[in-house]
Amino acid sequence: MLRTTLLAAARSRACRTLVERAPVTRGLVSKYVAGSGLERALPVVEQLTADRLVTLDHLGEDTTDTSRARDTVEAYTRLLAELDAAGVAGRAEVSVKLSAVGQFLPQDGEKIALDNARRICDAAARAGTTVTLDMEDHTTVDSTLSILRELRVDFPWAGAVLQAYLRRTEGDCRDLAGAGSRVRLCKGAYDEPASVAYRDKGEVDRSYVRCLRVLMEGEGYPMAASHDPRLVSIAGVLADSSGRGPDDYEHQMLYGIRENEQRRIAADGRRMRVYVPYGDQWYGYFMRRLAERPANAAFFARSLLTR
Ligand code: FDA
Repeated sequence: MLRTTLLAAARSRACRTLVERAPVTRGLVSKYVAGSGLERALPVVEQLTADRLVTLDHLGEDTTDTSRARDTVEAYTRLLAELDAAGVAGRAEVSVKLSAVGQFLPQDGEKIALDNARRICDAAARAGTTVTLDMEDHTTVDSTLSILRELRVDFPWAGAVLQAYLRRTEGDCRDLAGAGSRVRLCKGAYDEPASVAYRDKGEVDRSYVRCLRVLMEGEGYPMAASHDPRLVSIAGVLADSSGRGPDDYEHQMLYGIRENEQRRIAADGRRMRVYVPYGDQWYGYFMRRLAERPANAAFFARSLLTR
């Protein structure tokens, strides 16, 4: 119930204003977001890449304005050049939401998003790193996977996120388990109807394991994105039983979540990548993080109501 309310609020302008202005917000946001600009995010990346890998998200989504989509492409281009200049591009890639680069634009949105994603992939190729497409709500999956297919013609290393809570995802994993394919598997962070998604936690977890098995047994590069201790250890078991070594897959977690576990996995000699969001468009990302964590959400709601 609380999760559904927070995820609805994540798309409400009125709630956005309320949350952005609340004094309690800043402290909680800084737990999940590595600063409002590149000058703050880069030192974080330099520190993390000492023992972990990174993927950076220049925050923004649901753009309905061509010039804003263009600004996002420029922000990524600058980011990739800076990663290269700082000598960390070998350990840091970028994650991109297609809705931030034009996917929802009323006229030719999908084509604009593809062109913009190509420009980001070009910049990544110049820096010597990779791009992974985030996955948004279920209405965008076909479009995102079709853009991925186009991108992979020129950039075979382009990857995408699949969400285990969607009923279709096991099939998508089979389609994307071929050689060279990079798939980040997560549970899924949006409020989806039962017609397309498992809504029970146990069902989502079981789907995650089935999907991960398909990816591990395939020929691609699986990226197991979860903080769930059971799923983290199942990822290790499935990798071993599929004959994968420590360089043949990776674990991924979000910046600010289970930091000690991130370090432990890295110290264990396994690949651990941290998803690092930065920028001032943090609202949607932040609300999805609150929705995942009832304790944070309750604390936050109380602080808003008592201020
Ligand atoms: P689960 O939610 O069961 O959490 C397991 C444990 O992790 C919790 O008990 C708690 O200890 C800790 N934890 C989880 N969330 C927390 C939080 N917000 N604050 C504090 N502790 C928390 N989703 C999506 O729809 N599209 C996408 O593109 C992506 N991309 C993505 C990239 C990466 C690298 C990760 C790790 C995740 C995503 N996600 C995502 C988010 C994902 O779908 C999911 O919502 C979260 O990862 C939470 O699910 P868990 O698998 O961690 O399990």
